[in-house]
Amino acid sequence: MKRLNTQLQEDGCPLELILLIRTLLAACKEISFRVSQGALAGVLGSTLSDNVQGERQKKLDVIANHILRDILSESGYVKAVSSEEEDNVIGCHPDGKYLVSFDPLDGSSNTDVNSLIGTIFSIMHAPQWMEPDDPSAFLQPGTQQVAAGYVLYGPSTMLAMTTGRGTHLYTLDKTHGGFLVTKANVQVPEQTNEFAINSSNQRHWEEPMQSYVTDLIAGSEGPRKKDFNMRWVAAMVGDIHRVLCRGGIFAYPFDKRNPAIPGKLRLQYEANPMAFLMEQAGGLADTGHGRIMEVMPTEIHQRVPVLLGSKDEVETCLTYYR
Ligand code: F6P
Ligand code: MN
Repeated sequence: MKRLNTQLQEDGCPLELILLIRTLLAACKEISFRVSQGALAGVLGSTLSDNVQGERQKKLDVIANHILRDILSESGYVKAVSSEEEDNVIGCHPDGKYLVSFDPLDGSSNTDVNSLIGTIFSIMHAPQWMEPDDPSAFLQPGTQQVAAGYVLYGPSTMLAMTTGRGTHLYTLDKTHGGFLVTKANVQVPEQTNEFAINSSNQRHWEEPMQSYVTDLIAGSEGPRKKDFNMRWVAAMVGDIHRVLCRGGIFAYPFDKRNPAIPGKLRLQYEANPMAFLMEQAGGLADTGHGRIMEVMPTEIHQRVPVLLGSKDEVETCLTYYR
């Protein structure tokens, strides 16, 4: 099986980016180990503090954040990092060529029930003019990403990553400690009969999403004339992984409750990296009002509505918005 390094070289990835990715993955391997220790290492449960988004931090959120932040800061390849678990951007090395945004442990409420969780990351070039702790350098649209991916801490530890030459899936071979390509150039099936949405929020959605989901649920008796199935892991990494592997549509749509919070998921370290992976696998990624990767960010923790997945299904969903 092909090694990660070989795949990245074949994809024309510059050496310094390969070294950065390998450094980041070293952190993820440590997170994978810490996660697997579970109750034995006393890492389950919550801390007594909230993050900048007002979410109670899990102990593993904090551990994963420190591991990534420290390894990346010390690497020399990174000028600054931004994390879901940090209020502000953290300046790293003044000569670092890259910016890294990450969600250290996505779906972390699943830690206490031994269910799917993962790390999501997005890498961009660091502008030369920027001071290392300048947050404005991060406010680039997702089209500027040079690499993005996630590491899924599931029954096996898997990596999905793109550097703009297709999306590849890798599996961590714990016998030698490296990621091996287990599916190159993933293609998301264009059609699907699976959807993923937290329907307990249905009454708060905009009209187009209400009608779309009503028609999915009406199944073969409704206008779609086929039955759909619903799946919800409650960790974006888990749901997006399933969609990449066998198709589907994943949505966390606009929610009318608070116009200042137009969606749940964060643009920089959740929506953009997943959008890059999905588009590189032939799928689509939209907010309902435009391509996710073209959203011009205004702040590092900004939230956006997301619709991601099988091309034909996302297009069908978008017809309800037009
Ligand atoms: O990071 C936010 C997140 O945990 C995603 O991973 C997941 O898709 C979503 O929130 C789950 O939301 P809910 O709590 O509504 O099921
Ligand atoms: Mn998350």
